[in-house]
Amino acid sequence: NQRVTTAYFREAKNTGRKITMLTAYDYPMARMVDEAGIDAILVGDSLGNAVLGYDSTIPVTMDDMIHHIKAVTRGVKRAMVIGDMPFMSYHISREEALRNAGRILQEGGAQAVKLEGGQEVADTIRAMVSCGIPVMGHLGLTPQSIHQMGGYKVQGKDEAQAKKLLEDARAIQEAGVFAIVLECVPVPLAKLLTETLEVCTIGIGAGPHCNGQVLVTHDLLGMFLGKSPKFAKRYANLHEEIARALKAYREEVQSGAFPGPEHGFDMSEEVLSKLY
Ligand code: KIV
Ligand code: NA
Repeated sequence: NQRVTTAYFREAKNTGRKITMLTAYDYPMARMVDEAGIDAILVGDSLGNAVLGYDSTIPVTMDDMIHHIKAVTRGVKRAMVIGDMPFMSYHISREEALRNAGRILQEGGAQAVKLEGGQEVADTIRAMVSCGIPVMGHLGLTPQSIHQMGGYKVQGKDEAQAKKLLEDARAIQEAGVFAIVLECVPVPLAKLLTETLEVCTIGIGAGPHCNGQVLVTHDLLGMFLGKSPKFAKRYANLHEEIARALKAYREEVQSGAFPGPEHGFDMSEEVLSKLY
């Protein structure tokens, strides 16, 4: 059970073996995802939506990320742990970007970072890679730019957008990313990108041709209260299961059915008699 590294991604690109990736934000989920044999665990800034109660990823800070990355890395033995770089943590200056990426490996214990964007972040990626920090790219729907994109919608449908996506992908490949997440990209465009790029594409809402797939674990487990995006297949309905268990507990406490004799601890009659 050797640690998954960037070499594993290169090999997957050559052999056609699919990369599996999921998010985790805490220790127990990280352990379960790792023990399920998932190759890469993303501590995504989707943390903001999935567990912190925000309605976008924008409010998530470096300190939030470090806190959760540390919890995740304590639970993982085999998967590559990738820490997302939050909004504005890699834009202000090269120095700040490097310091923050460094924290994700040094304090967080992750093996790689992920950041959103194309040509405009290529030099930043190059600087991180030259420090020995593996970087995963993220193109298509990039939630940190939500206010600029004007909503969570498919990216790259028209010629100009599609050409920009291809250029961005080449630019960050050239800068040294080891893989690129493609979020909400039309299936044929994701296929073209996968065929042309030398690095792995990891799709989310980008069809079956990508070299790997990623989902938000809370989506696939059905743990969100609201509705999930179209591309997020539900493999379980934990929200309903949790609601059922919580209601059963409330009812049993109220009726006196819980706790039963098997949930209590006894003491000797002799000691007890001295207390009365
Ligand atoms: O934050 C996240 O979970 C992500 C994935 C959706 C790729 O960036
Ligand atoms: Na993210």
